Amino acid sequence: MKDQPKGELAIRVVAMPKDTNPAGDVFGGWLISQMDLAGGVFCRKIAKGRVVTVTIDSTTFNAPVFIGDTLCCYVSLVKIGRTSITVYIEAYVNRDFEDTRIKVTEGEFKYVKMDENRKPALINK
Ligand SMILES: CC(C)(COP(=O)(O)OP(=O)(O)OC[C@H]1O[C@@H](n2cnc3c(N)ncnc32)[C@H](O)[C@@H]1OP(=O)(O)O)[C@@H](O)C(=O)NCCC(=O)NCCS
Repeated sequence: MKDQPKGELAIRVVAMPKDTNPAGDVFGGWLISQMDLAGGVFCRKIAKGRVVTVTIDSTTFNAPVFIGDTLCCYVSLVKIGRTSITVYIEAYVNRDFEDTRIKVTEGEFKYVKMDENRKPALINK
């Protein structure tokens, strides 16, 4: 496999028929939500607390996702700020029991640590 993912495998999930758009392909919003979940899983560990998504930048859809594909979201740290964490997320699929991996989507996501009053909280580095 020449296209190697970067970062930590944060979530792995199978695309189901309910995740499609009216044309029958997997809906882009579903893909973004899986990446968002993966980034949240990764950033919660760093923040040691609750995080919310503040920005999703430069997201590219490189290739389609089909029902039955296994989506794998890899997260790598870009930057830890005062209250925010920026990560780069790459989403790959495994298809049809083959030992191939296709990069379908990638983008930069930023999360903010929140306190119990829903205000930004400092991250201990
Ligand atoms: C996230 C949120 C608390 C930020 O509020 P805010 O008043 O802008 O807070 P601050 O100005 O203190 O900024 C907090 C951090 O977010 C960053 N930030 C805020 N707006 C940003 C923007 N538009 N682009 C990039 N970074 C941004 C700031 O740079 C800061 O990072 P730092 O502390 O590491 O330097 C607020 O916008 C919010 O509640 N948004 C809704 C979040 C949400 O519901 N997400 C979807 C569901 S999880």
